[in-house]
Amino acid sequence: MARPKVYVTRRIVDPWLDFLKQSCDVLLNASDDAPSRQVLLQNVRDADGLLCMLTDKIDVELLEAAQKLVVVGTHSVGYEHINVEEATKRGVYVTYTPDVLTDATADFTWALLLASARRLTEGDRSIRAGEWRIGWAPTFFLSSKVSGKSLGIIGLGRIGQAVARRARGCDMRILYFDTHRATPEVEKETGAVFVSFEKLLKDCDFVTLHVPANEKTRHMIDETALRMMKPSAVLINTSRGTVVDEKALEKALREKQIAAAGLDVFEKEPLPAESPLLKLYNVTLTPHIASADLDSRSKMSELVVQDIISVLRGEMPKALINSDVLSIRPLIRTRRM
Ligand code: DGY
Repeated sequence: MARPKVYVTRRIVDPWLDFLKQSCDVLLNASDDAPSRQVLLQNVRDADGLLCMLTDKIDVELLEAAQKLVVVGTHSVGYEHINVEEATKRGVYVTYTPDVLTDATADFTWALLLASARRLTEGDRSIRAGEWRIGWAPTFFLSSKVSGKSLGIIGLGRIGQAVARRARGCDMRILYFDTHRATPEVEKETGAVFVSFEKLLKDCDFVTLHVPANEKTRHMIDETALRMMKPSAVLINTSRGTVVDEKALEKALREKQIAAAGLDVFEKEPLPAESPLLKLYNVTLTPHIASADLDSRSKMSELVVQDIISVLRGEMPKALINSDVLSIRPLIRTRRM
């Protein structure tokens, strides 16, 4: 029996590629750039496993090209780039990396919230541009207070809850909206109070988004939603760019309908050089790095690698998205490992 073949679409954190190589034949796209569609389709043809990123589209065409595929592991918690239903029908196991990046993303959300509210990056830019001419003045660089204010969390899942815990440390009043109300235990532990979407937008000083990307959440924050927010409100997005209508947000920030925003994710990534957001001073922009602390990225690499190996060995993976697949292709060791 030959060893299983795994195509890895990007470099991952050490030592997890070497670990994978101990039991599989690995074909690696050694660059940080995504492989072209053509290269991706070519390299999955012979693969038993695929380790992909959120920028690789795993659709019908790809699954059709990858007739030997048994497992797709995505190096991300979001999996909107994978047609899970189609993978399940074809007996392909799909795994992801939940939990291990929860704290990293919540920490970063908090950093972005503080930076946006307190004009941190704007201050840094102004010094570098030689604009700091007044030593100190009572009205210089005034910004929004965070402690004691109200925070609206849209999506009280793992990351939303971790953000709520950080907000408690700042004595904030916490409101949340979700399609499903959280359990009384979660509400008690986080101190978050369930309200309607509209009330959250109208009442909160800060609004932070923690929902997955799908048709229901697409442009959830649109012109109407932005108009409901306070003129002093700050919007934070570390979830997915598609949740916010970027054009409407740019207008709202330019016309001071809301005070500021902190964005780690965008409708198009990388953010195009011609994006009007780049011209605004009241938005803090970061390049989709909320989970990018070394510990968390290493844990993501470990989890996705271990789960691919588990499936190929016929063992249950830790973070399986499509448990229905078990009845379509039972777990069995397919190759020598
Ligand atoms: C994810 O995992 O989905 C994040 O967006 C990147 O870590």
